[in-house]
Amino acid sequence: MIVSTRALFEHAYGKYALGAYNINNLEQAMGLFQGNMASKAPFIIQISKGARSYTNKLMLEAIIRAADQIWPDALFAVHLDHGDEQTCYDCIESGFYSSVMIDGSHLSFEENIAVTKRVADAAHPKGITVEAELGQLGGVEEHVSVAEADAKLTNPTEAKEFIERSGCDSLACAIGTSHGAFKFSGSQGLHFEVIEEIQRLCPGFPLVMHGSSSVPQDEVERINAAGGAMRGAKGVNPAEYLPAAQKGVCKINIDTDGRLVWCRVHREFFRDKPEKFDLRDPGKLFMPAYADFIASRNELLGSAGQLEAATALVKSK
Ligand code: G3H
Ligand code: 13P
Ligand code: ZN
Repeated sequence: MIVSTRALFEHAYGKYALGAYNINNLEQAMGLFQGNMASKAPFIIQISKGARSYTNKLMLEAIIRAADQIWPDALFAVHLDHGDEQTCYDCIESGFYSSVMIDGSHLSFEENIAVTKRVADAAHPKGITVEAELGQLGGVEEHVSVAEADAKLTNPTEAKEFIERSGCDSLACAIGTSHGAFKFSGSQGLHFEVIEEIQRLCPGFPLVMHGSSSVPQDEVERINAAGGAMRGAKGVNPAEYLPAAQKGVCKINIDTDGRLVWCRVHREFFRDKPEKFDLRDPGKLFMPAYADFIASRNELLGSAGQLEAATALVKSK
């Protein structure tokens, strides 16, 4: 059942984080639903701008509608990941999305507030909620000074003003993570003090963590052993997911890790079976491998086992 992001956040707040997983094709969708059902977890499906144009924006919608029929007990929201203003309006008008992200993090503070407010004003009458982003995602790199690294983090006082003036419903904060498989060349620690201060200033407000893939080292080693070249790949310590959730992070975005599972399965398959060429052969291995990965993440996020209680809350509304 596709539900509102707001209701899922209400159930999760302070207890666990919803896994927000990106999808691009049907194999990912199959693994995603299987993994969430096996671990009995509510979740968020994210569709990026790139994913919408990879085939056609209607294709992923159709896949998700079909999955909703195949797994009628699944509980999830559909979210636009890193939208620009026009894509947000397109998703709001489509009637399919539970929430949209307007990513104005590259703009000035005032421009970011203005565009977020325009999107929130268009989304709210339709019951759609809006995620905004403030601060610049960036890994902790050895050559970057502490002052330089801190300047990119979300400023909690600005976050309070941003939330009050923009009308956003959740905020993606920069706390030291970055997108992709090469997040840190220096230390791996996250700046939880930023989250704590925002929560002190804005109690109860749902926060979002982007760039949360853990880039499992065994996965990277297997990819490299099967012909890959991903030396130095490093991610977030997944033991930090739950502490972040308990501090008010309701949504934890994981995309890169799923791509690593895909890459490992396909590289190993074609290395070991060079005579094969049928796309379904590695696809049959990828889907259960991705499902296992999703279930393992949900355990770490604390969302595993929450399906029944979250469904009861949503249905009571
Ligand atoms: O944050 C970005 C997500 O990982 C989506 O990536 O834009 O390549 O689809 P994408
Ligand atoms: P990763 O690259 O760490 O998976 O982050 C994904 C993300 O933030 C999507 O918005
Ligand atoms: Zn992101």
